[in-house]
Amino acid sequence: MTVIDELHAMRDEALAAIEQAGDLAALDDVRVKFLGKKGSLTQILRGLGALPADERPAVGKVSNEVRAALEAAIDARNSELSAVALDARIAAEAVDVTLPGRAHPVGTRHLIERITAEISEIFIGLGYRIAEGPEVELDYYNFTALNTPPDHPARSLADTFYVKDLSGDVAAVTGESDVLLRTHTSPVQVRTMEREQPPIYVLAPGKVYRRDIPDPSHLPQFTQVEGLVVDEGITFGDLKGTLEHFVCEMFGADRRTRFRPHFFPFTEPSAEVDVSCGICGGVGCRFCKGTGWLEILGCGMVDPNVFGFVGIDTERYTGFAFGMGVERIAALKYNIPDLRMLLEGDMRFLRQF
Ligand code: DAH
Repeated sequence: MTVIDELHAMRDEALAAIEQAGDLAALDDVRVKFLGKKGSLTQILRGLGALPADERPAVGKVSNEVRAALEAAIDARNSELSAVALDARIAAEAVDVTLPGRAHPVGTRHLIERITAEISEIFIGLGYRIAEGPEVELDYYNFTALNTPPDHPARSLADTFYVKDLSGDVAAVTGESDVLLRTHTSPVQVRTMEREQPPIYVLAPGKVYRRDIPDPSHLPQFTQVEGLVVDEGITFGDLKGTLEHFVCEMFGADRRTRFRPHFFPFTEPSAEVDVSCGICGGVGCRFCKGTGWLEILGCGMVDPNVFGFVGIDTERYTGFAFGMGVERIAALKYNIPDLRMLLEGDMRFLRQF
């Protein structure tokens, strides 16, 4: 068998192997086997030196042709196999863009947050500004300057969380602390009047704290919104008109209001405001305990003694104030039977609002 026959036989064997290579890795093995540094072609050409000089050019020519033929066949097969591999990858990685997406749960504002904002919007619409004060408050602002003297029952240890001073101050540790968690938002009235001169039209939403055991109508931490107006010529009529407007906006124009005389140390005269029951329309049912009315807030004309603490001229100015519980308003608006449901974080309940 001449070298040329050997080359041709090798070529035919290689072409068959190329045709049979099932994937790119197998094809590369074929390439290495026949054309690689230690491959068949190199092996055959190693015998070239032993040939007579006049035969060498013909063998060289055939070996170049064989190499070119095999390289072309490998390239062609490579293209075929690459196309197959690409098709397979596209099929495997295909994304069906028509499939509906996976829904991510979206959070919303909590009902208490939303009602607080709703109340604020109503008063901002009347020209009120938002005011703030600390939740950890001084006894002076929470009680004394609100005309609540030291022996007043509202100051009872049973109602108020006092903040203990652990530095060793004996008076503080025994409960006579000057520092407490505010029991209402009314101290913001005092802080505002200390800082500003009338005309004052402010609304103070915020958290308040009381030593209550949670039950359907009590929470140890809840939210209040305080209102304060101080200006020349402010009357009880202004207070009534303002709160009637508020009730209409908050509960709807079909709800009626009623002002009941009451007592608060920091207002004189004082009243509690009721709104007609939304369940029975005012005839009486279980929700309103048969009265036809639901209490929503406390209010009154600012007591001159309070003006005395902050140095506002009682000859020139009068004012009114009001305070309401946000959780209670939310419960009345949405007929929620138990305030604790607002804080339990049960999504089945919270998603309704
Ligand atoms: N601070 C009172 C409370 O927590 C509510 C209140 C009543 C606020 C009358 C007022 C007011 O500003 O005038 O029960």
